[in-house]
Amino acid sequence: MVESYSKNANHNMRRPVVKDEIVEFMRHRQEQVTGSLKELENFARKENIPIIPHETVAYFRFLMETIQPKNILEIGTAIGFSALLMAQHAPNAKITTIDRNPEMIGFAKENFDKFDNRQQITLLEGDAVDVLSTLTETYDFVFMDSAKSKYIVFLPEILKHLEVGGVVVLDDIFQGGDIAKDIMEVRRGQRTIYRGLQRLFDATLNNPGLTASLVPLGDGILMLRKNQAKIELPDVD
Ligand SMILES: C[S@@+](CC[C@H](N)C(=O)[O-])C[C@H]1O[C@@H](n2cnc3c(N)ncnc32)[C@H](O)[C@@H]1O
Repeated sequence: MVESYSKNANHNMRRPVVKDEIVEFMRHRQEQVTGSLKELENFARKENIPIIPHETVAYFRFLMETIQPKNILEIGTAIGFSALLMAQHAPNAKITTIDRNPEMIGFAKENFDKFDNRQQITLLEGDAVDVLSTLTETYDFVFMDSAKSKYIVFLPEILKHLEVGGVVVLDDIFQGGDIAKDIMEVRRGQRTIYRGLQRLFDATLNNPGLTASLVPLGDGILMLRKNQAKIELPDVD
């Protein structure tokens, strides 16, 4: 049994921001995953490991095949499901993925050994806070799927490593709808995430150096395109 995640782990996936019946339609009507990805999806579901939901899988397939990124960075590997999905649909891409949870790293290594047929994926172990500053390459696609309160902290380093024209996708940014509420209506335990996400929106949604779009898939995605070499962001701690 997996120890890192309890049965309450995917709380916001069970209070979708889009009507339940539309979510059901998107999850069942769009082409399902098969083979190794199906195996990993079933494992994640059984063990409550939070991986991207099916509507996001379908969107990522579309994005990968359309953009065909060459160098992808992911923060938040878990068992390697989204990294393997991206590898499958962007066969010429190199993928670097970061995780800090030893239990997840163990599963990811096993899965990459078994299923990363073209050897596209490199797993970097450690907290993204430390790992990001060691990166020397530039990327044309970044997927951020880790601790939500830290997105705003990681963003300056991410943008430094992103090519002009590159895209950043940040997952789970609606917090089950909490981000549209006043902070006093948000549970105390969720307020650090709430504040971090509000700072992220303040820094990006009207930033002239970025094109931003909020997409209501899963618990919400923020998409950013870097339009110029230097992006001004408010100071972050
Ligand atoms: C939602 S899961 C990732 C799911 C994966 N992207 C997928 O869809 O298949 C989040 C992962 O991020 C990792 N994580 C959270 N904060 C992190 C950080 N600061 N540095 C590195 N990994 C982090 C967790 O250990 C966890 O495995």
